[in-house]
Amino acid sequence: MRSTGTYATSTTSGESVQAFVPHALPPVRPALAPESFVEANRGAELALARLSGVAGLVPSVDWLLYSAIRKEALLTSQIEGTQATLADLFDEEAGFAVSNTDDVEEVTNYLRAFRLVQSQLRDPAGLPLSVRLLCDAHRLLLDGARGNGKQPGELRRSQNWIGGTRPGNAVFVPPPPERVPALLADLERFIHNTDHGLQPLPPLVKTALVHLQFETIHPFLDGNGRIGRLLIAALLEHWGLLPEPLMYLSGYLKQHQSEYYRRLSNVRTEGDWEGWVAFFLEGVAMAAHDAERNIVAIATLLATDRRSLLAAPKAGPSSYRLFEMLPMMPRFTIDQVRQKLATSFPTATAAVKVLEDLGIVTELTGQKKNRSYSYTAYIALLAE
Ligand SMILES: Nc1ncnc2c1ncn2[C@@H]1O[C@H](COP(=O)(O)OP(=O)(O)OP(=O)(O)O)[C@@H](O)[C@H]1O
Ligand SMILES: [Mg+2]
Repeated sequence: MRSTGTYATSTTSGESVQAFVPHALPPVRPALAPESFVEANRGAELALARLSGVAGLVPSVDWLLYSAIRKEALLTSQIEGTQATLADLFDEEAGFAVSNTDDVEEVTNYLRAFRLVQSQLRDPAGLPLSVRLLCDAHRLLLDGARGNGKQPGELRRSQNWIGGTRPGNAVFVPPPPERVPALLADLERFIHNTDHGLQPLPPLVKTALVHLQFETIHPFLDGNGRIGRLLIAALLEHWGLLPEPLMYLSGYLKQHQSEYYRRLSNVRTEGDWEGWVAFFLEGVAMAAHDAERNIVAIATLLATDRRSLLAAPKAGPSSYRLFEMLPMMPRFTIDQVRQKLATSFPTATAAVKVLEDLGIVTELTGQKKNRSYSYTAYIALLAE
């Protein structure tokens, strides 16, 4: 078995524990065997290329991104136990009352963190993929009620542990805090160093290794899972595997959560990098296929509804324009329609009524005043 790291004695709340300090990437002696990943890697890359291609089939990619990014934000937070739903998220954006505000805040914080990383990486003068950028993202992620007291934006200064009630009975004790900066510097070097010997590792395999190493270092007091998964999305774009964040890998990770955690542990305890890489590549292929199918289903729904709108005798320019806005505004009030269309209240009301009569949107409150509407079939497809 290959050696995966060393142990260092660390003290926390008076207790002395053995903390794990991983070796720098990539795995060596032996190096990852190409036959363990070549085929799965090809399958995953192909699935990503197909997903990028399907996105090119729809006239506007904005609504796709709008929903894909929100789905990832939601699912990655659900792994953490957040209870928010996609409908909650749309409600919050429409300004409707939501009950679980803390959960929704957690999801919108992820969106903010993701956008920060994406915009910095796309800006030639922005920060590169670095510890500093991840700390900035962490600050946004843990902003607000729940993150308070968890040192948002800062590397941890104390010993943490995973599973168990105290470090002594933990499943895993990550490296002592004083080792974290150097371990992250190694990780940064691995990301930016393109030379890994004669046979460079494919970018998806590197992405798998980076996520694992990040979770093993566990550099923050909380939010390590979410920042580590954000890092996956960032690397996919950075390495040109998926030009836009259309995939929501967290769906797969959530579905296989115990295997996900077990595979992370098995690398440390058994040196089974191959098992983790295979699990990851399989996940990318499945998540990309799911996203592709979902895009086709949504594009079909939009085409069907558009056709029935165009055939409706009462439909006019305002209802057409309203319909085209729905994918990015699936929950709305009449007043929001009035503002978006820059029109009068009666015109907005009439446009909404056309869509309601066609069964495209439904009214949610059952009241006469302050009515709110939903493009329910669309939200249901997104939530699949
Ligand atoms: N045995 C393990 N070894 C290494 N990393 C692990 C192990 N088990 C879980 N993890 C990682 O730790 C994450 C949880 O850490 P933390 O609570 O800091 O992150 P989070 O974003 O708040 O939580 P979550 O993943 O639950 O959303 C998991 O998502 C997973 O990525
Ligand atoms: Mg947590």
